[in-house]
Amino acid sequence: MISQGLLIMSYVVASILFILSLSGLSHQETARRGNYYGMAGMAIAIIATILSDSVTSYIILIPALLIGGFIGTKAAAKVEMTQMPELVAIMHSLVGLAAVLVGYSNFIDHSISLQGVEKTIHLVEIYIGIFIGSVTFSGSIIAFGKLCGKITGQPVLLPARHWLNLTLLILTIWLGSLFLSSAETGGGILPLIIMTLIALAFGVHMVMAIGGADMPVVVSMLNSYSGWAAAATGFMLGNDLLIVTGALVGSSGAILSYIMCRAMNRHFLSVIAGGFGSTTNGESAIVEGDINPIDIAETVQLLANAKNIMIIPGYGMAVAQAQHTVNEMTKLLKNKDITVRFGIHPVAGRMPGHMNVLLAEAKIPYDIVYEMDEINDDFANVDVSIIVGANDIVNPSALDDPNSPIAGMPVLECWKSSTTIVLKRSMAAGYAGVGNPLFVHENTRMLFGDANESLQAVLKALNN
Ligand code: TAP
Repeated sequence: MISQGLLIMSYVVASILFILSLSGLSHQETARRGNYYGMAGMAIAIIATILSDSVTSYIILIPALLIGGFIGTKAAAKVEMTQMPELVAIMHSLVGLAAVLVGYSNFIDHSISLQGVEKTIHLVEIYIGIFIGSVTFSGSIIAFGKLCGKITGQPVLLPARHWLNLTLLILTIWLGSLFLSSAETGGGILPLIIMTLIALAFGVHMVMAIGGADMPVVVSMLNSYSGWAAAATGFMLGNDLLIVTGALVGSSGAILSYIMCRAMNRHFLSVIAGGFGSTTNGESAIVEGDINPIDIAETVQLLANAKNIMIIPGYGMAVAQAQHTVNEMTKLLKNKDITVRFGIHPVAGRMPGHMNVLLAEAKIPYDIVYEMDEINDDFANVDVSIIVGANDIVNPSALDDPNSPIAGMPVLECWKSSTTIVLKRSMAAGYAGVGNPLFVHENTRMLFGDANESLQAVLKALNN
């Protein structure tokens, strides 16, 4: 057992490490260090808590830690890079579930004897904790289903859904007052259970209504909710570290959601209200015009004659696992004195920083990787843009067509370069389900096939 003083000290050190971790994770050069800080902080937090006097039964705690640790390690080791967002979503659901379970066990735990205002505050913590936990739990499960394609990516919009949400909210507040008054006299379980069911339904309804292209914001919003759920759990358990950590995750998730909304030119409230990406039929995915295919030999010729190349990776690069081949090709082109840069859209792929992670994994130097805002004005000087499995993030209709579901979303303006080569397998639409006029643009050449196979063929030909 450690003393209360040492426990508080450990929690302070862990909190500082979590803050350093978040700041490290905000730049790719320092992301690895950020991860180490986070791991160290979590290790200190877990060890200090295990050794504290808040543990009443090691017989329950140790098997729970072993089982949880085993499942977590297995899941993380098995998951493909493309499935990372799903893993994150399902982890969020567990934080929500934990908040619900802690809330109920706190409520039925008669060893906690509080009186007066303290009791009321404790009951409010339980009620809010269970509410946030339930919304996070069911919302994250639906997000998981949508991200892995088990549930439709199209928004499911019930008639009068805003009224329905408002009614559910009013009902939750009314049940809250009923809960507080009946809990004073030893009751309250019934309003608590009804509120839990309403909150679960609310989480399902909220995420079901959000369509394909808004899923990144949903994932980071649920990340934020899971933080608030953890903070609520901290209040219920009287654990300061959980409160601090939960608040850090909650606020950083909220800031990330805001930044992503700005990157997609969307208002946060309209994302939450749902409906974006609502192509109800395949028609909008059809674009008119002549497709201009290209073969490997011609691609190699274009690349070899270029002075300035911009590579734009998208979700397809993750699917094809083409990042290593991209790196090999980059090295080869640079050796031929050709300038090669990467343009990264903030929501390319399926999770924040998805492309940066893949490029870092392939050891592509950071100094040739640019954010969209840094290079978007420079496409006029680019000879060849290579689009590796990207679609929505290079869709000109976001700027030209006010009726497009992605209208207003900033995109990488690659069509301004002399030639754009698009690597993809077919004319299929991207995540938002909308057609892309870039593919029939006069300067665009389509290199059909798996991105990795195409690039390997290009690499082989460039080497000869
Ligand atoms: P998408 O618009 O999803 O397009 C990816 C393209 O890759 C597809 O059109 C697909 O065409 C192609 N592709 C798939 N497998 C391929 C392979 N093996 N080889 C070559 N091409 C392949 O991707 P994006 O441009 O990166 O845009 C991201 C989209 O996802 C946005 O709408 C964004 O809002 C959404 N989203 C983002 C996130 C985050 S946080 N980044 C999270 C969830 C959703 P083919 O099938 O014809 O090959």
